[in-house]
Amino acid sequence: MTILHIDSSITGDSSVSRQVSKAIVDSVAAVSGGVVIHRDLAADPLPHLTLPALAEREAVDEFLAADTIVIGAPMYNFTVPTQLKAWIDRILLAGVTFRYTATGPEGLAGGRRVIVALSRGGLYGAGSPAAGLEHVESYLRAAFGFIGIVPEFVLAEGIALGAEQREQALAGATEAALKLAA
Ligand SMILES: Cc1cc2nc3c(=O)[nH]c(=O)nc-3n(C[C@H](O)[C@H](O)[C@H](O)COP(=O)(O)O)c2cc1C
Repeated sequence: MTILHIDSSITGDSSVSRQVSKAIVDSVAAVSGGVVIHRDLAADPLPHLTLPALAEREAVDEFLAADTIVIGAPMYNFTVPTQLKAWIDRILLAGVTFRYTATGPEGLAGGRRVIVALSRGGLYGAGSPAAGLEHVESYLRAAFGFIGIVPEFVLAEGIALGAEQREQALAGATEAALKLAA
């Protein structure tokens, strides 16, 4: 069992998505055991995608070697951090994680579990006034769906709405992380 733990928050020790992604990894590892590989995309960023970089296999090989991938994904400016986008640009690779067929695209990376620790400053749930501005969960569902994976989400939202809301969101996400492994 290999768990690939990806973090992308730029906010260091105060990061909510880092706390939640770690709680998920600890929870899954406690049940399944195995090896945990941690990639900190803020400390060690991948460059923007270029044409030559399309030939790189390091990130996608590491992704494909994992059974479970846990991703810390904060909302920055309504979508994922640019560091996480650069990693996804290495993962969605034609002929490797998906292919085009006569009947449409086909995902080739199924059979893995992807769990996303998603933190957002505001509230973007279905039916809320800002729901249409949500491009983290919707984007990650589309991107992983395209390669054959239905991602799971642990949500901490309303982080910027005050200390009480922040604590409640963190407590709820930590509890949800514990239940994930069951
Ligand atoms: C650069 C930056 C941009 C942000 N943009 C948004 C945003 O568009 N919408 C929102 O609801 N919160 C936004 N926030 C708040 C974060 O989503 C929130 O603080 C979340 O906890 C960040 O995750 P982190 O604590 O792991 O860094 C932003 C925060 C930062 C630092």
